[in-house]
Amino acid sequence: MQILIVDDDPGLRQSLALLLGESGHACVAEGDPARALERARGEGGEALVLMMSAYGNEDAAIAAMREGAYDYLHKPFRPDEVTLTLRKAQERERLRREVASLRATLGTGLVKDEVVAESTAMRKLLELAGRAAGSRSTVLVTGESGTGKEVLARAVHRMSPRSEAPFVAVNCAAIPEHLLESELFGHVRGAFTGATQDRPGLFEAADEGTLFLDEIAELPPALQAKLLRVLEDGQIRRVGDQRTRAVDVRVVAATARPMEEAVRQGAFREDLFYRLNVIRLHLPPLRERPEDVPALVTRFAQEAARRLGRPVSLTPRALARLCEHSWPGNARELRNALERAATLSGHERLDADDFDLSAGHGGNGAGGDALDLKGEVEAVEASVIRRALAVAGGNRREAAQQLGVSLRTLFYKIRKYGLS
Ligand SMILES: Nc1ncnc2c1ncn2[C@@H]1O[C@H](COP(=O)(O)OP(=O)(O)OP(=O)(O)O)[C@@H](O)[C@H]1O
Ligand SMILES: [Mg+2]
Repeated sequence: MQILIVDDDPGLRQSLALLLGESGHACVAEGDPARALERARGEGGEALVLMMSAYGNEDAAIAAMREGAYDYLHKPFRPDEVTLTLRKAQERERLRREVASLRATLGTGLVKDEVVAESTAMRKLLELAGRAAGSRSTVLVTGESGTGKEVLARAVHRMSPRSEAPFVAVNCAAIPEHLLESELFGHVRGAFTGATQDRPGLFEAADEGTLFLDEIAELPPALQAKLLRVLEDGQIRRVGDQRTRAVDVRVVAATARPMEEAVRQGAFREDLFYRLNVIRLHLPPLRERPEDVPALVTRFAQEAARRLGRPVSLTPRALARLCEHSWPGNARELRNALERAATLSGHERLDADDFDLSAGHGGNGAGGDALDLKGEVEAVEASVIRRALAVAGGNRREAAQQLGVSLRTLFYKIRKYGLS
């Protein structure tokens, strides 16, 4: 174990370093607290803090314990007191790691039926998610559209000690800005026209559970500030309310858009980004983990069979064909392709020809897919927006007015569909 000794007394620093060095620890000593803090950060990892306090300074020791210090030593102390306290701390740290690792193993087992994870990348990610689940930290899930961000967010919840409490999902981009605050935080009667009674928001609905904030990069600036406050002090305020309320909510946020870029452009608060990014779970695109394709195919074929009420299987040729495809729309595209083939083909055993993997079916799984409602709606939406933009001569404000949506919504959709 590496030990950083911090004290203003050089004599004490030296004798402690000597003592601990003898029992086999690598020690560094520091007299300046600010420098010590920098050094501790540089070392990374989780430090275990033992407080040393002089006689008559118990308050500081107790305050330190309240902030998470493990134990404290009263000056002056005997050498065996130091080594004993240290051994106890080490033992606790070992147990903590063991519990975390057991929880990860157990958690991964819990969601094995829900999340396909054959590739090494996915197995590692799921294990990391299991470890993250045990903590209270916020989690940021990133990855291209259709990679399974929501699936993973639910898995974090299911593996967490909060799994019996609600998992509440909200898409920050889908709700108009003026409604989003009340949606998230609730409102009191009379807060605005139409607020005829008190209503709790989604934070309160998710109390003791998990709140999944999807498309977090689209959260408007005013709400970014409010979200930061909740994450920092666990207090929410309903719109129009005087008082604040305490909530115990674990936030999992997701985005398909590179957050670092949004931060650089000033569209997303840096402090909130760091607050959300405590644990990052990044889902690689499906084309980078082809080992997952056969297992996903099996999963989706079973789902299709259940829905259709008849068996669905694939010929080896068909499976080979699916394994070769690059799946720009990731798992969602694969799921849609299977569903479409299973529904349209007359036979139980699907062959390669039953799959139409031409370019038109790429992207978000949209494009001429009569059975994929979401894809169909999106295709229509994209074409209406394209027309409105053309009519408005490229003027987005005018196009937004024409379409009856906010400028913000229009920007979001333009980005989503890659229009310009
Ligand atoms: N590892 C997986 N195991 C089982 N099903 C998966 C997995 N990954 C994705 N899916 C399925 O693929 C579809 C897309 O997953 P999900 O909605 O979680 O993706 P997403 O990343 O949130 O996409 P978007 O960015 O478009 O919202 C869902 O039907 C989901 O059940
Ligand atoms: Mg999603």
